[in-house]
Amino acid sequence: MSQTETELERTSLRERMVGGVRAEDAGATTDLSGWVHRRRDLGGLVFVDLRDRSGIVQVSFGPDWTDPVSLELAHDLGHEDVIRVEGTVELRPEAARNPELITGDVEIRAARLEKLSDAVTPAIPVYRAPDDELPSEELRLQHRVLDLRRAELQQNLILRHRLVLAARNYLDALGFIEVETPMLTKATPEGARDYVVPSRVHKGEFYALPQSPQLYKQALMVAGFDRYFQIARCFRDEDLRADRQPEFTQIDLEASFVAPEDIFTWMEGLITALASVADIDAPVPFPRLSWVDSMERFGSDRPDLRYSLEIEDWTEATRDTDFGVIRTQVEAGGRVRGLRLDGGGRLSRKDIESIEATAKAAGAPGLLWAKRSDEGTSGTLGKFLTPEQADAIGLGVGDLVLVAAGKDRITSPALAASRAAAAVAMELPHQREHSWLWVTDFPVFDEEDGRLTPSHHPFVMPHSDDVPLLESDPARVRGTAYDMVYNGTEFGSGSIRIHEPDLQRRVLRVVGLSDAEIDEKFGFLLGALAAGAPPHGGIALGLDRIVQRFTGSGSLRDVIAFPKTTAARALYEGAPAKVGERELEALGLEVIESRGQE
Ligand code: AMO
Repeated sequence: MSQTETELERTSLRERMVGGVRAEDAGATTDLSGWVHRRRDLGGLVFVDLRDRSGIVQVSFGPDWTDPVSLELAHDLGHEDVIRVEGTVELRPEAARNPELITGDVEIRAARLEKLSDAVTPAIPVYRAPDDELPSEELRLQHRVLDLRRAELQQNLILRHRLVLAARNYLDALGFIEVETPMLTKATPEGARDYVVPSRVHKGEFYALPQSPQLYKQALMVAGFDRYFQIARCFRDEDLRADRQPEFTQIDLEASFVAPEDIFTWMEGLITALASVADIDAPVPFPRLSWVDSMERFGSDRPDLRYSLEIEDWTEATRDTDFGVIRTQVEAGGRVRGLRLDGGGRLSRKDIESIEATAKAAGAPGLLWAKRSDEGTSGTLGKFLTPEQADAIGLGVGDLVLVAAGKDRITSPALAASRAAAAVAMELPHQREHSWLWVTDFPVFDEEDGRLTPSHHPFVMPHSDDVPLLESDPARVRGTAYDMVYNGTEFGSGSIRIHEPDLQRRVLRVVGLSDAEIDEKFGFLLGALAAGAPPHGGIALGLDRIVQRFTGSGSLRDVIAFPKTTAARALYEGAPAKVGERELEALGLEVIESRGQE
């Protein structure tokens, strides 16, 4: 540790942090403060592992070097007590060195001990032997303060801090200006429900917490800021999945006079900066794939390209099969598509059923399959295949095909899920450890049951060629929208925005808003766009997802200091919580006990 770092660590109650003590400090006296990670009492001697954020160092107490009062106190120390120790750095005898610890060559022989704080018996252990399992996550979230003492969680949050710092520095160097936008605001449509905050002063009226700073960042472009960014907190009341939290953070940015190319170049630079902090490989430029191709080849708009396995179209090859399911689906305008797993014949029926279960969970009625051996073809589809048809779909001896027949809207998600499950079952080798990708040209609208919704948000600029289709064939309108994908996870999403008020109004009408609703909800945006708006665009990257993937953490909860459960509860502080009658009255609210959850 350099002199300057030690200097920085010095406070009134310690000379330095514990993790930096090294063999070259042998003989020096030192003064350290921290937590009792672990204590071993050998009768005459007491050994304490002293811990702080920087690491652990062993402290020894003994009659020959510790004053009697301190030695007495050392016998009584409990786990997680907070202590201060004055002593001498000593080299450990060769046999007692601990290569697992960076401070393992030394120990502190304590002359004096002061207890700064008592700790009750920890509700969950902070010290764990190497084979000890973690307590349940629920317990750990309830006792988050103790869990946050774990080195893994501290390292995750430290990396998060360093990534944010790198992002700020990178964007600052490009001329982006960080601007804070309001938390108490009006609804921003990002496809989730709003968290709302009642106004006491204006009873019956509510603020919405921002789902993203989208409308403000566009307003800042109209205001002439040219390049904006924010490490932005967003709030979304939506069904939580492993990669979602109700409250999360974006690296959010917007710039004027740009095309997608500018955003791609900047974001590849940003990711290079972030990846180098985390020692992750991110070769630029990232490959690009249009949304149409991505759906066709991988069934997903966020394909995991670490392994190669592509969907193929076998509608023609299977057209003449004597199989009702296929005939009915094809006659109804569907296609027959599937995945060929070379050597997949070795998968058991159970393996195949478990892949089918993922296809069903993704919304398909089922998944067909065929195997080929020297005796012929078998399986739900295989028993209908002639050798010629098997040849036409490339089903060789020892192979397996997984097949879905129907409308792409149903079969694409099912094949994407099957692709992921098959990759695991087959242990498909990764061709690269880190797969980066831009998926471009998303459709502007999603269509379900004849209803159109914005596929990102309703501010995406349609491709100029497709603007004439807005009213006549909206489902075919491509947008200037792009996603950044890493190993099958959507890391970020952005677009060029509509900067003309008339076009913005047309798009809002297509998603079913009346002019009155448009004026009420988005009048302020249209007003801004009418005030001389530069062409502009941007993106938001999900910081939590980036930190999770870069740290290899199992959950977003492991990279957020005080996260929510999948039931959107904060277990440590206990939120949400009821509010008292008086507060409700002041807010002009009345709680109607569960009429059933919507
Ligand atoms: P979008 O809604 O796609 O775009 O969000 C951008 C990125 O934010 C992350 N993200 C989340 N992370 C954790 N928990 C969540 N609930 C959650 N929701 C989203 C994802 C996602 O890619 N305003 C637009 C951006 C733009 O157009 O510039 C927006 O918010 O990583």
